[in-house]
Amino acid sequence: ERASEREMIEGHELAAKLFHHLLMNTSQGEAAYEYLQSRGLTEEVMQAYQLGYAPEHRQTLVSLFEKRGYSLERMTEAGLLVRSDRTGEYFDRFSGRVMFPVAERRGRLIAFGGRALGEDEPKYLNSTETPVFKKNETLYGFAAARQAIRRSGRAVLFEGYMDVIAAYRAGLEEGVATLGTSFTEAQARVLRRNAGQVTVCYDGDGAGVEAALKAAELLDGGDVDIRISLLPEGMDPDDYISSYGTQAFLSDIIEGALPVVAFKIQSLKRGRNLQQEGDRLAYIEDVLAALTDVPRAVEREHYMQQLAEEFSLSLDALKQEQYRMYKQK
Ligand code: UTP
Ligand code: MN
Ligand code: MN
Ligand code: MN
Ligand code: MN
Repeated sequence: ERASEREMIEGHELAAKLFHHLLMNTSQGEAAYEYLQSRGLTEEVMQAYQLGYAPEHRQTLVSLFEKRGYSLERMTEAGLLVRSDRTGEYFDRFSGRVMFPVAERRGRLIAFGGRALGEDEPKYLNSTETPVFKKNETLYGFAAARQAIRRSGRAVLFEGYMDVIAAYRAGLEEGVATLGTSFTEAQARVLRRNAGQVTVCYDGDGAGVEAALKAAELLDGGDVDIRISLLPEGMDPDDYISSYGTQAFLSDIIEGALPVVAFKIQSLKRGRNLQQEGDRLAYIEDVLAALTDVPRAVEREHYMQQLAEEFSLSLDALKQEQYRMYKQK
């Protein structure tokens, strides 16, 4: 590892310390503190995740780095500052945001996610790719979760920073999240190497369902057991915990996560009214089509049986229908 990279990491650790101090102890950070409190975060949690506040004033880090003798050019390369093309002046990249420090595998800080306090766009501003921040292999929360993942043999994959933190509050310490990009092969490798079981717990919306199935596909291979949580429409894990509490989250959403095929079958119900014949038939066809991809006959038969029971159909009729569809393909 090069000295320049060490400097970039030090820059992040220095920045995180200042941001955390500003959040916890100063009037500048008061609005951010109240915002986090209003979302249910206690001081202990803010401490555990080293949350911080980047002030509006965009010379905060610039002055800190100048005072400590850090090269502003290097800190720009690290993604902490930006430099005006026109004037050559340096500014802080993050301002007026709640800061979530992002660590690499061993816990050293390499990036930030910054959340707007209000409706500002983007909602989250993330560090750009830098020599120390390889987005496609970084998982938010992994360093902190590693021990718990090893202990339980399970990792839980979320979409968002706040989901990881809400889960931690609920007593689930194995949570990690992607960082505003889709789940990658490199991230899948990290989880496969560390856990025998991965639960994908994404948001309960169309995008979340689709992304969860993609993540499951990437995780597949080797002998990792993959489960997918089914959240109520329009809710993410953090919302769910706020509405239904810790117990329901742990038992229904985490322990109750479904094997991939079962999740796929459930998610085919989305947006359909199964009381209506047209929707019902379309659903049945989609389930049969999905089941043709299941390699193991016993598993296929099991879900077929379930479908038959659910709609009072004969297993025979379903098999005939599937055979007809298969011939058409
Ligand atoms: P969500 O939109 O589900 O946000 O994006 P969230 O995590 O529920 O955030 P809150 O609860 O409103 O605070 C999921 C994740 O996608 C990334 C972030 O990592 C976020 O946690 N994201 C989202 C971005 O990087 N930029 C964005 O503008 C939005
Ligand atoms: Mn502290
Ligand atoms: Mn989402
Ligand atoms: Mn969300
Ligand atoms: Mn959320």
